[in-house]
Amino acid sequence: MSAVLKPAPAYRGFDVAPLCGAGGAEVTGIDAARPIAPETVADLRRALAEHCLLILRDQELTPDQQKAFARHFGPLSATPFIKPLDGHPEMMRIVREADEKKKLNFGGRWHSDLTFAAEPVMGTCLYARESPPVGGDTLWCNQMQAFDALSPGLQRVLEGLTVMHSAKRSYGPQGTYADDDLKSMRIEVSEAGLAEQAHPCVRTHPETGRKILFINWVYAIRFADMTEEESAPLLDFLNRHSQRPEFQIRLRWRRGTLALWDNRSTQHLAVNDYAGYRRVMDRVTIAGDKPFYRP
Ligand code: SIN
Repeated sequence: MSAVLKPAPAYRGFDVAPLCGAGGAEVTGIDAARPIAPETVADLRRALAEHCLLILRDQELTPDQQKAFARHFGPLSATPFIKPLDGHPEMMRIVREADEKKKLNFGGRWHSDLTFAAEPVMGTCLYARESPPVGGDTLWCNQMQAFDALSPGLQRVLEGLTVMHSAKRSYGPQGTYADDDLKSMRIEVSEAGLAEQAHPCVRTHPETGRKILFINWVYAIRFADMTEEESAPLLDFLNRHSQRPEFQIRLRWRRGTLALWDNRSTQHLAVNDYAGYRRVMDRVTIAGDKPFYRP
């Protein structure tokens, strides 16, 4: 799907300006702090499935207002392994202080949120409270376009495969976050991070019927009934393919930017290029369903 080549469909209560060929759209006409009419919510949901990422600029939101906005799209889902914001069990604060010179930043490798869960979240809503004057962008890649661009032969192979997802590389006892003290984040690695969850390698979008290459660098660790070593060559190829520039969307944040993305059809990455500046983001995730494949 190329968002830029199609005339924008009419939406009730807002306008959209597509951002990239891979998706992303700036939404105008919505104050996320206020209740939103049901037909507008229905059209925002449709726009989200079409564009993968919706961006609302210049929003003034309290944590409660951000949660209320996200709840228009479904119940909120708490994030395991990370202590939530005080008083807001469904919200986490992503913080990096100006004096933290870390090789790693939170979310700094390509992933989709919480795919190690039996029912990974359908969407994530991220709000910029403080953003660097330059740097700290987020990138997404469109996993529907990535699937469509594969050869029919490889598509057929992948449609028959199951992938095991696990949080172990991040939140297991030997995971990335065990070594690296992201001191402004409250991350707790544990044995629970070692659990595995099976998902189809190609999932069907429940709202559009589009096929999605459902893998990511961080949590998709191996194919079912294969070792990680055996799986790595094909998974590495699929991840490098997914991150081709033409499948990517890039968002430059500024204070008050609210982003809502479709976690089913995208991977994302927080760019680590803002040493010397503070960045503070509030994140809530929206419950999803069990991924399925429909031919
Ligand atoms: C995340 O992976 O949810 C964080 C994204 C970001 O901070 O830009």
